[in-house]
Amino acid sequence: MLLKPQERLKLDDTDDALFYSVPRFVTHLDDRFLETLTQLYRDRLQPHTRILDLMGSWVSHLPEEMAFDTVEGHGLNSEELARNPRYDRFFVQNLNQNPKLPLPDRSFDAVLNTASVQYLQYPEAVFSEICRILKPNGIAIVSFSNRMFFHKAIQVWRDGSEDNRLALVQAYINSVPGFEVEDSVIVRPKPSALAWLSGGQDPFYAVIGRRTVQPQT
Ligand SMILES: C[S@@+](CC[C@H](N)C(=O)[O-])C[C@H]1O[C@@H](n2cnc3c(N)ncnc32)[C@H](O)[C@@H]1O
Repeated sequence: MLLKPQERLKLDDTDDALFYSVPRFVTHLDDRFLETLTQLYRDRLQPHTRILDLMGSWVSHLPEEMAFDTVEGHGLNSEELARNPRYDRFFVQNLNQNPKLPLPDRSFDAVLNTASVQYLQYPEAVFSEICRILKPNGIAIVSFSNRMFFHKAIQVWRDGSEDNRLALVQAYINSVPGFEVEDSVIVRPKPSALAWLSGGQDPFYAVIGRRTVQPQT
């Protein structure tokens, strides 16, 4: 196991379903972050493939002009997920209570996860599931910034630097046999007085993992 028990703790350890029971029709990231993410998807995803958006919401970051065979959504609030314009279907499941995805082996070309990885208390189990449902050569794109619902993020994330968090997500992927980090994308805003006065810009981090073609041992 990568994480120690205390590193998995949240300040608010009530059922996550309670916190997400009220829909939040807001965007969690700034425009620059979202444009960077959509461009990354444009560059790395293939049209007419099968996509799973894990820990999603009412907004899609997929490029509007790209058509996919299926976009499956997942999250904790069905009202939010029902409003996502790209989802063909979705399911609701608390991954901290049950990390087992109700999806067949090798059934998706890409798994996306945005601004959410910090809430996973058992990331080893979830990343193993992501690898299981990916087709050989399929990719996962895990993106995040420095924002979070602080009381719902796990201790190791709350207390780590941004570099520590990047290394953590890389370790989540590399810890799964048959899953490897292929690339990491970092876009940090340049410090400027104007950005500082306007509250700064969201830094962008994405880790791209690929399921290897060799069968898992
Ligand atoms: C900050 S939102 C990000 C939503 C979306 N990915 C986006 O980019 O707008 C965090 C999401 O994580 C999901 N989430 C948080 N805790 C979860 C848990 N224990 N199990 C499953 N999903 C969870 C919620 O559904 C929520 O929508």
